[in-house]
Amino acid sequence: MAAAVRAAARGRRLGALCRGLSASLPAASYAELRARAARDPAAFWGQQARAALRWDTPYSAARRPAPGPGATRWFLGGRLNVAVNCLDQHVQQSPDRVALIWEKDEPGTEVKITYRELLDMTCRLANTLKKYGIQKGDRVAVYMPVSPLAVAAMLACARIGAVHTVVFAGFSAEALAGRINDSECKAVITYNQGIRGGRIIELKKTVDEAVKNCPSVKHVFVAQRTDNTVHMGDLDIPLNEEMAREAPVCIPESMESEDMLFMLYTSGSTGKPKGIVHTQAGYLLYAALTHKYVFDYQQGDIFGCVADIGWITGHSYVVYGPLCNGATSVLFESTPTYPDPGRYWETVQRLKINQFYGAPTAIRLLLKYGDQWVKKYDRSSLKTLGSVGEPINHEAWQWFHKVVGDSKCTLVDTWWQTETGGICIAPRPSEEGAEIIPAMAMRPFFGIVPVLMDENGKVIEGNDVSGALCIAEPWPGMARTIYRDNQRFVDAYFKTYPGYYFTGDSAYRTKEGYYQITGRMDDVINVSGHRLGTAEIEDAMDEHPAVPETAVIGYPHEIKGEGAFAFVVLKDDTVQTEHVKQELKAIVASKIAKYAVPDHVLVVKRLPKTRSGKIMRRLLKKIIADEGSNLGDITTLEDPSVITEILDAYEKYKSEQRTS
Ligand code: WT7
Repeated sequence: MAAAVRAAARGRRLGALCRGLSASLPAASYAELRARAARDPAAFWGQQARAALRWDTPYSAARRPAPGPGATRWFLGGRLNVAVNCLDQHVQQSPDRVALIWEKDEPGTEVKITYRELLDMTCRLANTLKKYGIQKGDRVAVYMPVSPLAVAAMLACARIGAVHTVVFAGFSAEALAGRINDSECKAVITYNQGIRGGRIIELKKTVDEAVKNCPSVKHVFVAQRTDNTVHMGDLDIPLNEEMAREAPVCIPESMESEDMLFMLYTSGSTGKPKGIVHTQAGYLLYAALTHKYVFDYQQGDIFGCVADIGWITGHSYVVYGPLCNGATSVLFESTPTYPDPGRYWETVQRLKINQFYGAPTAIRLLLKYGDQWVKKYDRSSLKTLGSVGEPINHEAWQWFHKVVGDSKCTLVDTWWQTETGGICIAPRPSEEGAEIIPAMAMRPFFGIVPVLMDENGKVIEGNDVSGALCIAEPWPGMARTIYRDNQRFVDAYFKTYPGYYFTGDSAYRTKEGYYQITGRMDDVINVSGHRLGTAEIEDAMDEHPAVPETAVIGYPHEIKGEGAFAFVVLKDDTVQTEHVKQELKAIVASKIAKYAVPDHVLVVKRLPKTRSGKIMRRLLKKIIADEGSNLGDITTLEDPSVITEILDAYEKYKSEQRTS
């Protein structure tokens, strides 16, 4: 071959290589992906689903609207198994890759689990469930702190087509029982005990108390987290022993795209939590894609999301997203301050974490302890930092970025909800060099179309405007229904603004067209990143025989973001007011969870009500914001003199607090 011809051939090869490279360069592909998602969403998601998921049977329709108002269905006709996508496909390629690093409560005792080991564990657990009669479609409650076995429990359900409902292991027996009964779980999977922050948590005892009132529960599988023995009753099956007897192989159930994968209870504006339902293919695809693009996850990275699996963040970014992508995912069992406030960063150093995803409440807490706890440790492995669950204030954002990330990491404030399945608004992905504005979620993910609505239900155009945040186009990760209450689902999300998904949040669109979340529009509060309905707390307190009426509102809290403030009316003949207050706090802890206990309980004679009997919470909010002299229009109050009463009681309460 003549030199010139060889050079030309080399040139063509190089050209082809460069084109190939530039096609995979983020700069080119983000813009391209975004444009494609906007142009033809069905084609875009269809193509992503074919490329990212392993199917038993290809789907026939990428998306199809629901028959009435409600969620669009995705990838109909397709069949797949989520556990196969999260495990088997990686075991075939690289069985010894680490799937999970269990960062146990005691520093330095981490355990690594490979994909092969996790598949074995999952199959043994799946076979155990099958042996005890758990079948496709049955609901199984998982009441476990984050651990490899908890992940295996979720994946074992997915493998056999059962539906898991993970209940945060900090919820009380009564809250657990309520969720088990609502979803009619056949089985519960738990541990003898848990360990967190050096303290033992009596998980099995709580389950015992709960299942006394759960007729649907036939079996309680009890794994060992500690060496202590706990009482085992008729329903109880020792899980580790059973698993040891089972085969490490279990044929996966081929599931339809729209079969239920899991449900997860979350708070709404009534006292009853909602069982949010997510399905197989759409959820998995959305969790995996957002995990990859928002955090810029690259093969080989160690991904550290410190959320508990009891929340959606743990489902999407500890378990399903990372494992579908074949990542190494960290399971953080401890607390940010155990054994000291350097725990997160010592863990980052020891495990060489590349992406760290956490909650603003923890950041606010840690920044108070000072920079030295961070600087002691090598954080050079970090590339991306993420924040989730509640608004992150400027001070916390700056500290996270400058001190933790040494101003070198991308920090993404990610907005989403239990209902959205995955991140919907976040600064990344975006083109190389695109700015990130502190403390702002900013940009919609591929295919997400945020809109703002005014009071009359009209779309607000233009920038530098605020309104109710809705999403105009369906996306595969969105919840499909509320378990056995589709009407509530439709009413909560699709009725206020017909044709749009209503998030319940309000937002501001900046001059540049970026989104900033400004808060909830309903009676939902966010305590340490945990969602709570004020009505849930009220319902719990109203059960006290001395309490005819309560009103709970959120107020800004330095560390927790929001705290609960309760106004309570006591019966006239109540003498031991202090005692009743303590009892009320105990009731909330036992009916819901400790984090739901109001920080303040203020006894008042009456609540401010309109003539039709509606409590005017807006006024209560103003009073505790010390804006009692500027209450605005109070003419709708049935009896305006109630305000002076409450203001007096509040002033007295404050002076008591100061002296105590
Ligand atoms: C609500 C959803 C997202 C998974 C964990 C919480 C609030 C969430 C942000 C953020 C401002 C946020 C919203 C939302 N929220 N992320 N980055 N900035 N607010 O899920 O329990 O379903 O709560 O949390 O109010 O509606 P969730």
